[in-house]
Amino acid sequence: MADSGDGVNSTSSGKDGRNAVTDGPVTDPASCIKESKSGALKKSSRYRSRSLSASSTDSYSSGSSSDEDDVSPREKIQKTDKGFNDFCVRNINQHAFGRREIEIAEQEMPGIMALRKRAADDKPLKNAKIVGCTHINAQTAVLIETLVELGAQVRWAACNIYSTQNEVAAALAHAGYPIFAWRGETEEDFWWCIDKCVAAENWQPNMILDDGGDATHLMLKKYNTMFKMIQGIVEESVTGVHRLYQLSKAGKLSVPAMNVNDSVTKTKFDNLYSCRESIIDSLKRSTDVMFGGKQVVICGYGEVGKGCCQALKGLGCIVYITEIDPICALQASMDGFRVMKLNEVIRNVDIVITATGNKNVVTREHMDKMKNGCVVCNMGHSNTEIDINSLRTPDLTWEKVRSQVDHVIWPDGKRIVLLAEGRLVNLSCSSIPSFVVSITAATQALALIELFNAPPGRYKSDVYLLPKKMDEYVASLHLPTFDAHLTELTDEQAKYMGLNKAGPFKPNYYRY
Ligand SMILES: NC(=O)c1ccc[n+]([C@@H]2O[C@H](COP(=O)([O-])OP(=O)(O)OC[C@H]3O[C@@H](n4cnc5c(N)ncnc54)[C@H](O)[C@@H]3O)[C@@H](O)[C@H]2O)c1
Repeated sequence: MADSGDGVNSTSSGKDGRNAVTDGPVTDPASCIKESKSGALKKSSRYRSRSLSASSTDSYSSGSSSDEDDVSPREKIQKTDKGFNDFCVRNINQHAFGRREIEIAEQEMPGIMALRKRAADDKPLKNAKIVGCTHINAQTAVLIETLVELGAQVRWAACNIYSTQNEVAAALAHAGYPIFAWRGETEEDFWWCIDKCVAAENWQPNMILDDGGDATHLMLKKYNTMFKMIQGIVEESVTGVHRLYQLSKAGKLSVPAMNVNDSVTKTKFDNLYSCRESIIDSLKRSTDVMFGGKQVVICGYGEVGKGCCQALKGLGCIVYITEIDPICALQASMDGFRVMKLNEVIRNVDIVITATGNKNVVTREHMDKMKNGCVVCNMGHSNTEIDINSLRTPDLTWEKVRSQVDHVIWPDGKRIVLLAEGRLVNLSCSSIPSFVVSITAATQALALIELFNAPPGRYKSDVYLLPKKMDEYVASLHLPTFDAHLTELTDEQAKYMGLNKAGPFKPNYYRY
């Protein structure tokens, strides 16, 4: 998850709200699904040849055999021992491994587990029918099972073709949840899976939990009548939120939406702290690189960029920043980083990381100038930050060296090390800290509860931020883990500050 992931889509959902294809033919969801119905389940050999077997990044339980990779889950007939078959996952038999992964995640997700316990009797999501489109991993599984515990019915697809933990998807399906996701989906599979979650027999969804806006996009485009029955959308990613604001501006948003991405608890913790930990892990796991003394350029000094910089600086890297915004550039300078144009450093750096949420930040021209062995990866939501398409030319050779690691080789023998084909590297090549996801998951659950239970008129067809008090509540759910003791305001202090003793403690414009 994480924008949690903030996640990438299999398609490159650009900030302009349109989908561009990076590695496949079409990405208009409607046309893609039509194709899939008539052209029926044709496997993409291109994708299979870059399949995800035997990888250093797969957990031993999820390592898919080449045998599995050859058969599309859509061609398999699978059911659980209870006869349930409303799902499509790589291999239902992996469910026991997945269940263990979920149990491990539960240990590190105290906030969402506390919420589950506190609200289980009230069932605040009774009658909620949620279409979910997020990363599917152990941590999101904890969220999904919490929503069900709180009374919701769910149907769930992945928002990223690479990030699904197959064994976790199997565990969820085995528990009886309609899950449509596997690692290594094609573009066509991707839209097919979301479609299966939106349109099903005896199913009229009334809530959407989205990460990247693809479920919203598909419903709006293909199932407009159903879309009008939606009571609320909760969106996690920068990109998805951007699309929602665009829809709202164009007068096309007919339901209230909650922008979870800009909740303080999400932005500060998921984007900053999670990326600070997972950037190192994903680079290590995929390349075995030594960081000390390496020159790294990070494009974008927002929350994600700041997290990456802190981690890499801590390990002795020489870090350069590129920025378009003078405020962030000044922050970077004051934090001790050199702010440069990409062209000025590109020939010397060992690692290039994009974290802008923008497109074509690293172009073919830049990659032509990189030195031999330069590692190139993306931490931003969309796979458009690095112009991967420009590398698919006859003069360059692609060599898969590991799952999620390609060497792209120039005619003179120079090679760059491209990670996850420009998709979110931390979600594709490593895992993200469960504790941080607990914060995001609790925020998402509260946003769903708020939108679902709000009295008519509280929210119009617009994009809202989670009320500050709920942000504070999410944080407070996580404090017991650290045995953190909050100071309470005295009556005198509360009066002096003009605050309610129970919060909110800061005005909405406070930046933390
Ligand atoms: N990998 C993850 O786990 C994860 C987690 C959260 C968010 N994200 C994604 O990471 C991206 C960044 O998120 P954020 O919270 O840091 O956003 P942000 O808006 O805080 O930061 C992005 C920064 O990039 C700068 N920028 C934009 N275009 C640029 C360009 N061409 N060159 C250089 N700098 C440029 C902006 O000025 C901004 O400061 C988003 O796409 C977000 O969805 C990823």
